[in-house]
Amino acid sequence: MDSILPTKTICDFLTPSEIKYLVDLIMSDPCVQEVFAEDTNTHCVSKRYYPNSTNHKIIANYLVDRLESHDIFPSIDSIWILEAFIPFPIHNDVLHVIPDSSQSRYYTLILPIEEVEAKTIICKQTADSEYIDDYMKVGQPIEESQRFTQDFWEKNLSHCPINQRQYVSHEFTFDWALGSLLAFDRRRFHVSSNFLTNGISSKKALVSFTNVCNKNLEKTLTVPNQTP
Ligand SMILES: [Fe+2]
Repeated sequence: MDSILPTKTICDFLTPSEIKYLVDLIMSDPCVQEVFAEDTNTHCVSKRYYPNSTNHKIIANYLVDRLESHDIFPSIDSIWILEAFIPFPIHNDVLHVIPDSSQSRYYTLILPIEEVEAKTIICKQTADSEYIDDYMKVGQPIEESQRFTQDFWEKNLSHCPINQRQYVSHEFTFDWALGSLLAFDRRRFHVSSNFLTNGISSKKALVSFTNVCNKNLEKTLTVPNQTP
């Protein structure tokens, strides 16, 4: 298994006017996908607004240029505006198709496009399958001292089954802020805070799944030769 990428955050990655530029590109001709709760098929839990292919290329190039100046070297797989109406459960982002077998999964990018009291919480655990339930079938419970505290769970993760607490530990909490960027390895389990408990009915962010060409992956992971 490749080395797990370090989680990164970049404050003020984009200015409000840059965000407006990118959001306007997407919303000028969006392809809208509604995601429904599996149990009802009628309750919309989130919407995704995808740019058309022309605007996808413009946005991807814009982001890649900016990311490379922060030592992140992605090929942009998909980009969309996420509008979430319920908090996502614990999952990772490995399942999305990689169109080119010469590439590997790389970072998930989350860039809030509004000021909202929400968090994305990153776990230390990683897996090559998406679902925490599958991970729990093969993984061992971790020691109490390494788990999320009961207090943290009740404040932030009350939408997640409590038995999951035995299997995950806290790596990082990203407080959503307009224009700040969160980048984490797509294999890392992560979860939304239960923003509904803050009286918030939805949240919006620009989201991207990225891959990396194998040669670029080597570039980002190879430790420079230290010998003089
Ligand atoms: Fe995700």
